[in-house]
Amino acid sequence: MSIIANRLSRIKPSMTVGINVKANALRAQGKDVLVLAAGEPDFDTPLNIRQAAAKAMDDGLTRYVPGKGTPALQEAIIKKFKKENNIEYSNDEIIVGVGGKHILFNAMMATLNLDDEVIIPAPFWVSYPDIVMLAEGKPIIVVCDEQQGFKITPSQLEKSITSRTKWLVLNSPSNPTGAVYSKQELLALSEVLLKHSHVNILTDDIYEKIMYDGNVFFTLASVVPELKNRTLTLNGVSKAYCMTGWRLGYCGGPKDIIEAMNKIQSQSNTSTSSITMAASVEALQGTQDFIKTHNIEFKKRRDMVVEKLNAIDGLTCATPTGAFYVYPSCAGVIGKKTRNGDLIDSDEKFMNYLLESEGVAGVHGEAFGLSPYFRLSYATSKKILEDACARIARACQKLI
Ligand SMILES: Cc1ncc(COP(=O)(O)O)c(C=O)c1O
Repeated sequence: MSIIANRLSRIKPSMTVGINVKANALRAQGKDVLVLAAGEPDFDTPLNIRQAAAKAMDDGLTRYVPGKGTPALQEAIIKKFKKENNIEYSNDEIIVGVGGKHILFNAMMATLNLDDEVIIPAPFWVSYPDIVMLAEGKPIIVVCDEQQGFKITPSQLEKSITSRTKWLVLNSPSNPTGAVYSKQELLALSEVLLKHSHVNILTDDIYEKIMYDGNVFFTLASVVPELKNRTLTLNGVSKAYCMTGWRLGYCGGPKDIIEAMNKIQSQSNTSTSSITMAASVEALQGTQDFIKTHNIEFKKRRDMVVEKLNAIDGLTCATPTGAFYVYPSCAGVIGKKTRNGDLIDSDEKFMNYLLESEGVAGVHGEAFGLSPYFRLSYATSKKILEDACARIARACQKLI
């Protein structure tokens, strides 16, 4: 009998983490591999944030801290929600975790009973369904195709709600498509949600600050205050502040859910690091100027990658509004063969072919619940992106 618990058989390891491991293994063998699979900015954590961490260590902030966040961090989060999102949360409506992923995990562990349903629009961030399943819930995947901007429509939402629906997960800007819900779209969805008072909403706003072309970010709890008492507004410092390794996410939401999540933390990880909390206070309250600079750079890269991919026969690429990913369709190469006679019959095969023939690592669309697509991250240098696009073009040309 296996020592591994049955619950582990419900889930698979994170596919994006797996692809990075595979690409790094090829690199270790001396292969020239360009990795466009990572979900993190390539910029360093800004200096003022690093200095705040150093100061925290020097000041002796090295002991246990509350799992819900130090008073200074709680205050910084409350101010952030008020100032940037116009949502008022009190201290008992806020919690901090070890990254946004951990917030999601704790929220699902705290609320799902066996087979409770969670509506997840696809394409989705790879971790949503697996975290739901680990917590014994049932992911209800709603496919949102490119014609609808990869976003769930009110009628799709209406059709997918049952008496067992516990959550709707909304991610804007989206990983992997970069799609952003407008205020009007959120209002339209809210008309359905207001009719179904048993449905809670988790809005994953982690890419909030990475937006282009003058678009404005909106989050549900601020657009529809009537839904605030059943919305968990998730955010974190990983993406906007280039702090993926520091591990801090946070959310605002109903007291009972926050208290239950706190109970889980108190019997598991206790809290994220005290140093990370101090650095995050500076991230939220210090200068935000670098975000603009980063976004200017991301936009240049986005425009270049979209243009180059659209010039490749077999690929088409929509222009994303936020985050730092493109999600091109590879429908035009499906059915073709490699020079070795291998049939490209899925986006996974296409990604394997790109990796093996040209050393370009991206993530196949199936991992995000919508094929035939693939995700490339443009959070890497222009030089690498140019090289990667040239290699993809060469690989596509070779297909017959
Ligand atoms: C949509 C989305 N939500 C949440 C996260 C979690 O980020 P972290 O755990 O680093 O805060 C990620 C990370 O890739 C993400 O893409």
